[in-house]
Amino acid sequence: MGFSEYVKKVLHWNEELKDLLESENVGRNEEIWGKLDNLTEILEGIENPETMSEEELIGLQFQVEHLHEEMEKYFRQRQHAGGMIHSTPFTEPGRHQLPPLPYSYDALEPYISGEIMRLHHTKHHQSYVDGLNKAEQELAKARQTGDFSLIKHWSRELAFHGSGHYLHTIFWNNLSPAGGGAPSGHLAREMNKYFGSFDSFKRQFSEAAKSVEGVGWALLVWSPRSRHLEILQTEKHQVMTQWDTIPLLVLDVWEHAYYLQYKHDRGKYVENWWNIVNWRNVSERFQIAEQLKWRPF
Ligand SMILES: [Fe+2]
Repeated sequence: MGFSEYVKKVLHWNEELKDLLESENVGRNEEIWGKLDNLTEILEGIENPETMSEEELIGLQFQVEHLHEEMEKYFRQRQHAGGMIHSTPFTEPGRHQLPPLPYSYDALEPYISGEIMRLHHTKHHQSYVDGLNKAEQELAKARQTGDFSLIKHWSRELAFHGSGHYLHTIFWNNLSPAGGGAPSGHLAREMNKYFGSFDSFKRQFSEAAKSVEGVGWALLVWSPRSRHLEILQTEKHQVMTQWDTIPLLVLDVWEHAYYLQYKHDRGKYVENWWNIVNWRNVSERFQIAEQLKWRPF
């Protein structure tokens, strides 16, 4: 590996660590941030890695190793204190919690009033959490008893409240009293690549938000398939998805998928379909999807 390649790798790793700290809501005042920023500065200060002396390179490697240890130490401590994802490996059915806001209710004033924030968080979001917990518990009960007579109702509830809970959790953390401006780094580059510029992204996103019919959301999403950003609208987030989840196994039950052969007998099609499921593929999707870890709520 050439020096340039090494420096590029370290820069990339550095960005990943920052994303991790952000997704774990590690406060900007924590010492670990300073150490990461310090390394970024050193890396960006290297004009031509190929002309680095051996001494400089060893110094850099030392910095990287030191940071690696520091990160490990930091996360071990947090895990100890119960603040890390590993202490809650998964959210059991019916155990979702209202996430705390990462700022006070009036912190976003004058743009969003404290009154709205308080209502939105303690009433609306809380009712999504309660509804999601209820739906998960009812479906767990149905699995135990084998009584799926209310499956449509509870699947709807699961989608409506699940999307509500997950999207609001993203929404709160998407905002900050110190926000505004434009993104930098990798995200900025992806925006320029796909939308042309930050301004044209911003215009499309605003138009999408303003024109959502009735209730809904505007979303900037990443497509792991196409590997580009995209802007979507969702009218009524409950129809019938849970945003912020990743599909692993899907079954097409549009009529075009079975009618020529099974006519109206969708049940027969569904039963037979199990004979051709490629579990190796589903497991592979699962393995990759599982690597994406947000903090549970
Ligand atoms: Fe809302």
